[in-house]
Amino acid sequence: MKLYYADDLVQLYHGDCQDLLPTLPRHRRVLVLTDPPWGSKTRVDNRRFRPKDGHGWHTAARDRLQERRPSVGDGQAFDPTPLLRFQRLILWGAPWYAAHLPLSGGWLVWDKRKGLEDCPWPLSDAELAWTNLGTGVHTFHHRWMGRVRESERGQHHHPQQKPIALMRWCIVRAGGPAKVSLVVDPYAGSGPTLLAAQQLGIPAIGCEIDTDYCQVIVDRLQQRALPLPAAQEGAPSQTKCTDTVPLISSETRGRGRPRKWATRAERNRAYYLSTKQKRQDG
Ligand SMILES: C[S@@+](CC[C@H](N)C(=O)[O-])C[C@H]1O[C@@H](n2cnc3c(N)ncnc32)[C@H](O)[C@@H]1O
Repeated sequence: MKLYYADDLVQLYHGDCQDLLPTLPRHRRVLVLTDPPWGSKTRVDNRRFRPKDGHGWHTAARDRLQERRPSVGDGQAFDPTPLLRFQRLILWGAPWYAAHLPLSGGWLVWDKRKGLEDCPWPLSDAELAWTNLGTGVHTFHHRWMGRVRESERGQHHHPQQKPIALMRWCIVRAGGPAKVSLVVDPYAGSGPTLLAAQQLGIPAIGCEIDTDYCQVIVDRLQQRALPLPAAQEGAPSQTKCTDTVPLISSETRGRGRPRKWATRAERNRAYYLSTKQKRQDG
């Protein structure tokens, strides 16, 4: 596993997340939000869609997306056990491996058809995530049917791509910047979790095994430099992986942990940097 990219908020590792997971803190403020390879053997060649009378969905995406290759790991059953030790956990695609999840917990529903419920559509109407945060069922409505999208129109990066808006909703449901100091996505794909954390000003760590997607993530992160005012507060510009970053600010010296912060973003950043140091120290 190699550090592929780092800036003031986000670290991205290239490699197998099984090497990263044991090094991460188990703190209650750590949210693991991920969409692992489901083991669904999803067919990603859009040429499988055939025109049907009266159906308008079939033509648009066929030529653009047909070259996609299946996601790494999608061919075998997924075992979520290594993730279950985290206290804040949201797992997309959970129906595929529900047999390995605790019976308690809640479910998040992403309704992908918002406003187009009557339109014939060959794929799922919704996706489900299991969470250990509460026991209720909560729904996010965000249209995402092939190229008919409520957001990120024309930005097709990954066959299992999630909207950044969905991941932002998840982080806010998990407590947002007030309760979450670090967001982790061990199966980052095209990076929507990392982008959502970036937008909310929360430090994030991602891991992706496929180099091409690592580069997609970096490109997307660099295009969206800290848009929210809270995140911009005192945020230094991006650093290269090799740059020296002050690991603990003067306010944390003495006791070795944050005591009083001018802003939440400052506190979160210090927490992120101190956990990064611990990982580097082994
Ligand atoms: C379902 S996709 C995630 C898609 C992501 N939610 C998005 O919106 O782009 C799962 C990702 O996990 C990656 N992956 C599979 N096994 C992995 C492993 N052991 N460590 C890190 N990444 C892995 C795959 O390359 C794939 O990009």
